[in-house]
Amino acid sequence: MATFTKISGSEAPSVSINAKHKISKINDNVYGGFTEHMGRCIYGGIYDPGNSISDENGFRKDVIEALKQLRVPVVRYPGGNFVATYHWLDGVGPKEQRPSRPELAWLGIETNEFGTDEFLKWCEIVGTEPYFALNFGTGTLDEALAWVEYCNSSSNTYYANLRRKNGREKPYNVKYWALGNEMWGPWQVGQMTKEEYAKKAYQWAKALKLLDPSIELILCGETGYSSWDAHVLKECIKWDVHSLGGSTTASLISMHSIHIYTAAKEHLPNATAPRSAERAIEMTAALIDLARIENAVPYTVPRPLICFDEWNVWDPARAPGDKGAEEKYTLSDALAVAIWLNVFVRQSKHIGMANIAQSVNVISPLMTTKSGLVKQTTWWPLLLFSQYMRGHTIGVNVCCAEYEGPTEPAWIRGTIETPWLDVSAAICDDNIVTLAVVNVHDSQSFKTSLDGLPAGEVKVYSVTGRDVDVSNTVGKEEVGIKESIWDGEGKFEFPKHSLTMLRWKM
Ligand code: AHR
Repeated sequence: MATFTKISGSEAPSVSINAKHKISKINDNVYGGFTEHMGRCIYGGIYDPGNSISDENGFRKDVIEALKQLRVPVVRYPGGNFVATYHWLDGVGPKEQRPSRPELAWLGIETNEFGTDEFLKWCEIVGTEPYFALNFGTGTLDEALAWVEYCNSSSNTYYANLRRKNGREKPYNVKYWALGNEMWGPWQVGQMTKEEYAKKAYQWAKALKLLDPSIELILCGETGYSSWDAHVLKECIKWDVHSLGGSTTASLISMHSIHIYTAAKEHLPNATAPRSAERAIEMTAALIDLARIENAVPYTVPRPLICFDEWNVWDPARAPGDKGAEEKYTLSDALAVAIWLNVFVRQSKHIGMANIAQSVNVISPLMTTKSGLVKQTTWWPLLLFSQYMRGHTIGVNVCCAEYEGPTEPAWIRGTIETPWLDVSAAICDDNIVTLAVVNVHDSQSFKTSLDGLPAGEVKVYSVTGRDVDVSNTVGKEEVGIKESIWDGEGKFEFPKHSLTMLRWKM
């Protein structure tokens, strides 16, 4: 949680931090990833057999190391839009017997060389938890139940035995399952009305939880502020005596998924665009509460959280999906990503999971070449947040002037402010406070007093570059992390177009 006090540009900015005021736990899963059968994400991204830098499974070792460094806690798979025509059974068993199929989301051919067992093995190597999306397009409930049984059952039943036959005795215990992806979208095979979706999702949820009560189901929302979201929440966030044996301490739906991509041509609308996601989170949280109130859900039933399972900077006109969506990110985009992450920290009370779309090559901070990796500008804020911004979000107030020009989307103006300094703060278990400050101004630094800072040294991590348009390319890293120490005396000067992370021991 952070509050904002607007002052004029001629007044001196300040940030007040109250490290004793822990507000809410930052769920580790906000640093989640996403790998879809799309472009070069799976094939040529995480899976590259025959390449000397891949392991005996065909998994890229450099990608594994990078994602380990990022401490990615959970990875969504196999889509995205891809999942709407995906039949998981095509991707298990002996590879030479797996069928190649036309792929309708991105108009390619899916060889099914990489499937459920490969992905789950890869997750074990990376040290991350899998999150599967179910096929709500051409898939059936029987197929979905069979997939859960294949992954999670220890019984002597058909699909559990098929898993054993395919070489895996122990269940994988996949906890997170999404009830479809973007089923509201006109591009979706099997697009539905909100009424059709809500009815189907509720019935599937009952059956899936009967089969495996330990799984957590994620409802397919839209942006969080649409009539789709309001309707599906109203129909599915309810307490029903027939489901879960009438339990008043469990719920069918654990999270509500929303997706937003931000982008704008000009730097300031681009960097401030993630403020729309902050307002979207607030609106979604209100709709969740409204559904619970209207449906008289007992307060003992856990309140569903938001699963922001696709977020990032992406302009599909610049980097089209059917061409692999390989965005070349700038410093401006890195600052937008830093504000996205500030949003998740500030709104941690409402966020159960967030997944950057995507983890490798496709609209990703991490790009593979045949022989190595390029870490795009957006990699660096993600790395800093994932490494340091854990624990609890704490109270912080920023007092500064704001950017007052056009925004993308336009409705940001009038619903939420766009301060020059965008801040969040957290305290982790070993009592280290981390303050993240994004100065979006493209020509002005801000000397800022920091109230609540104890005496002593402060570690400084800074991400910036020559100008807001610079990018990282093979062999040329314009944007990275610079580390230094500040003695904590006087004011701190936040440089123009920068992310600064300050860390100190309480
Ligand atoms: O992440 C790329 C695509 O964007 C996903 O497949 C889809 O869910 C969204 O529209």
